[in-house]
Amino acid sequence: MFRLDGKIALVTGAGSGIGQAIAHLFAAQGARVWVLDRDLQAGAATVSAIRAAGGHAEFAELDVSDPVAVEAVAKKLPVVDVLVNNAGVGHVGGLLETAADDLDRLHAVNVRGPFNLCRSFVPGMLGRGRGSVINLASIAGVIAVRDRLAYTVTKHAVVGLTKSLALDYSHAGVRFNAICPGRVETPFVKARIAEYPDPEKAYREMSSTQLTGRMARPEEVAATALYLAADESAMVTGSTLLIDGGWSTGK
Ligand SMILES: NC(=O)c1ccc[n+]([C@@H]2O[C@H](COP(=O)([O-])OP(=O)(O)OC[C@H]3O[C@@H](n4cnc5c(N)ncnc54)[C@H](O)[C@@H]3O)[C@@H](O)[C@H]2O)c1
Repeated sequence: MFRLDGKIALVTGAGSGIGQAIAHLFAAQGARVWVLDRDLQAGAATVSAIRAAGGHAEFAELDVSDPVAVEAVAKKLPVVDVLVNNAGVGHVGGLLETAADDLDRLHAVNVRGPFNLCRSFVPGMLGRGRGSVINLASIAGVIAVRDRLAYTVTKHAVVGLTKSLALDYSHAGVRFNAICPGRVETPFVKARIAEYPDPEKAYREMSSTQLTGRMARPEEVAATALYLAADESAMVTGSTLLIDGGWSTGK
């Protein structure tokens, strides 16, 4: 079950963290994976590691916020079966610590990024009448997260984008789903923790927001992405799949 043999998958932000884990798992399950990242070194390292493990991977350097660059990459790539919009950025702060520029920076990557990729890659999927688009939203796309105003706003938008696309295009054979992780131990979260005056205390507090008492591992999120990419989830579209250790249940 959950094999991806013969499928072409594209993963943005696959040079690190969750995207890297998704790229590895998809390749291990038989997919040909395109690793897209604005960080050339990180993306190339992911590709080398996949190839060393016997998988198929290619790299393209790309800033997802740039629609012209996205379209140029799309012209060079084949039609993909699976598109994972994973690249994302964060910002710590409530209203008073969030400048308009911070909001714009997060919007450019977290919202316009998936929008740009969908604009360029979904037409090919629609032309073939099949495909799976997986957007990395967040628990912050379902509930508000304290001191994360710009992040909460943009991740709610990712959930809205996913639902809107699912409503308009699921009838044509292309599925759109959002994954909403709680905290996952990746460089993204480690960078946020390092910003706190007492990082160890911050780590404990961030772990405890999950009812399970720990953060998720990137591989655990990748397993959810594999389910959504595989044909076994053919009836799943427009969903927001929580992998939050029960965080959203209540506190
Ligand atoms: N780590 C968490 O706790 C967590 C929780 C919920 C949701 N998420 C979401 O999951 C996704 C991945 O998070 P992560 O923790 O693995 O992050 P990460 O920082 O470890 O990796 C993100 C990758 O995206 C790339 N990237 C950033 N901006 C880009 C751009 N404009 N164009 C192309 N590539 C770009 C980076 O170079 C990096 O390789 C993000 O969308 C994030 O919001 C993360």
